[in-house]
Amino acid sequence: MMLKDKVAVIYGAGGAIGGAVARAFASEGANLFLTGRHLAPVEVVAKDVVSAGGSADAAEVDALDEQAVAQHLQSMIDKAGRVNISFNAVGIPDTKILGVPLVELDVEQFSLPIASYTRSYFLTARLAARHMVRNKSGVIMTVTALHSRTGIPLVGGYGPAMAAKEALTRGLSAELAPQGIRVVGLRPQAMPETRTIKEAFEPRAKAAGMTWEQWQALLVSRTHARRLMTLEEMANMAVFMASDKASGMTGTTVNLTMGSLDD
Ligand SMILES: NC(=O)c1ccc[n+]([C@@H]2O[C@H](COP(=O)([O-])OP(=O)(O)OC[C@H]3O[C@@H](n4cnc5c(N)ncnc54)[C@H](OP(=O)(O)O)[C@@H]3O)[C@@H](O)[C@H]2O)c1
Repeated sequence: MMLKDKVAVIYGAGGAIGGAVARAFASEGANLFLTGRHLAPVEVVAKDVVSAGGSADAAEVDALDEQAVAQHLQSMIDKAGRVNISFNAVGIPDTKILGVPLVELDVEQFSLPIASYTRSYFLTARLAARHMVRNKSGVIMTVTALHSRTGIPLVGGYGPAMAAKEALTRGLSAELAPQGIRVVGLRPQAMPETRTIKEAFEPRAKAAGMTWEQWQALLVSRTHARRLMTLEEMANMAVFMASDKASGMTGTTVNLTMGSLDD
């Protein structure tokens, strides 16, 4: 059990990545506090975890709301005594932006993902770190996408948002690692089994005159393995990075693009 006795909070736990990470963390012995903007999808994941013999508490928490995050963390500390792992898997819906050329976006639409993703990651990381410093240990984690490192058309401010999150991972680590807190991120390629990816890519495929299947084939052709990653593979890596086995890793975002993006 790589995460035995670890207490983990996950934001966006009702989503594809948050849910997969929750199930993988639980199977390695973590005690989970699962949160999301809406309770129902978080409860589905919590029920799955509990029926598989794990421990999971579900709560409605808006990860853009400082007070809501702080109150939830305090209630978690009151119940479990500590927070060892904080994982921000929040995905900000951006259906009005995808498929629109940058020159046609207004500044508010452009700024929305940059402000929202960085706000949520900053808030959840900062508030967790304030508890973690007392124990001089902890792991702060998040997820980004290859848009952080390569130009991709028709995604508005999403690329700058992902680049900003990766920069924040480095900055948080520089300040927190001396106090025993590691800060690490995962950068997966698109995982086609997720609803998010289909919704995100369909408008772009359409704009490029391609079908969804042709679009997936294009993504596959860019990987070295000639296939895309599964949620389970991504979650397995998250388990390792959250565990003490990764004690030498901080201030970095792991490239899980299967060769699509050079280091
Ligand atoms: N899926 C992929 O293949 C993939 C690959 C690379 C990177 N990513 C990135 O990873 C992130 C998560 O992706 P995903 O596929 O897991 O997305 P998802 O299935 O849509 O999950 C995102 C979750 O975030 C929650 N959320 C949104 N706003 C929130 C808020 N203010 N407070 C709390 N929770 C909030 C959503 O809850 P509600 O539904 O209740 O609003 C949802 O459960 C996104 O940034 C995505 O772009 C995804």
